Amino acid sequence: MRHSKIVGLGHHVPENVITNEYLSTLMDTNNDWIVERTGIHERRWMDPATDTVANMAAKASRIALSRANLTENEIDFIVFATITPDYFFPGSGVLLQRALGLDGRIAALDIRNACSGFIYALSVADQFIKTGMYKTILVVGAEIQSTALDISTAGRNTAVIFGDGAGAVILQPSDKPGILSTHLHSDGNFAEELYVKDPGSSRPHAERQPEKILDTSTFKVVMNGSQVFKHAIVRFIEVINEALDANNLKKDDISLLVPHQANLRISQYIQQKLALSDNQVYNNIMRYGNTTAASIPIALSEAWAEGKIRENDLICLAAFGSGFTWASALIRW
Ligand code: COA
Repeated sequence: MRHSKIVGLGHHVPENVITNEYLSTLMDTNNDWIVERTGIHERRWMDPATDTVANMAAKASRIALSRANLTENEIDFIVFATITPDYFFPGSGVLLQRALGLDGRIAALDIRNACSGFIYALSVADQFIKTGMYKTILVVGAEIQSTALDISTAGRNTAVIFGDGAGAVILQPSDKPGILSTHLHSDGNFAEELYVKDPGSSRPHAERQPEKILDTSTFKVVMNGSQVFKHAIVRFIEVINEALDANNLKKDDISLLVPHQANLRISQYIQQKLALSDNQVYNNIMRYGNTTAASIPIALSEAWAEGKIRENDLICLAAFGSGFTWASALIRW
């Protein structure tokens, strides 16, 4: 049977470092509160002069390609996870295709599953490799959250959490896995617990005019932090155990868990519940905040570059976020 394998990975984050101290000048917050409740020390926010979702993704993709010893022209499919595309439409996949200088031969697909988006994208790409339809798939997670945040005291529960960045992996066929399994879940009953309402299409025409939308500020992130937290800690554990059970593996077999970087307290809770050692869990939320669909590929790329992922290691990815959606992937490296 044909399997898929990650053959290259890379990431790119904006230069612009936003410290907790800087945020304290914009809103009523402070470094101690942010570090204690979230673990975040700083995050990167886009520079409008240089950064777009597509061009950050292109930078991450080129690093992944060069580490895989491949060129742009070998890509035959792009799967792009983002909830913050550069345009309302078209999606970011086609903009990345253009940025990489690829012609009209290849397909580009956008995935809008928020913090679980990268694992959903990886799962889609894995299926296409297994069927034999594509041979070299670029899977990307990239986000610019900073421009939709309410950077006043009214928005402080979200403004301190989110950051911008991009990560990319290349998948190719392999005789043995590679990706052992992916498990995907959703529950739309909680859609409004973490969402951005506009520019939604369900409003009457008169209410959907730009000046009305700006007046009501409904294009900003709304989050019920405690609800998200409570569901996240349950679903993360469930979906990691689901992956292990499906592969007849135990939590001790995990070489490295790379959880979506939602909140350091969530990662620490998972680590404690699963009795994993510090060496078995990778966190970088301290430096980048929560970068939504980009967080897992950025963390995976950093962990790999730091030598924390070696051949034959068992890597577990897990995510939870808006939707609610949650997902896991088990990978034999
Ligand atoms: N600085 C200072 N005070 C803040 C603050 C900030 N940035 N944000 C909120 N507060 C205040 C609140 O207004 C509240 O004040 P009050 O008690 O006077 O009303 C107090 O801190 C406690 O707020 P609460 O929301 O109960 O805090 P919390 O301990 O739940 O932490 C989050 C808030 C957002 C950090 C936490 O709920 C969380 O991380 N949830 C999960 C979020 C997440 O992971 N989202 C992404 C999912 S992919």
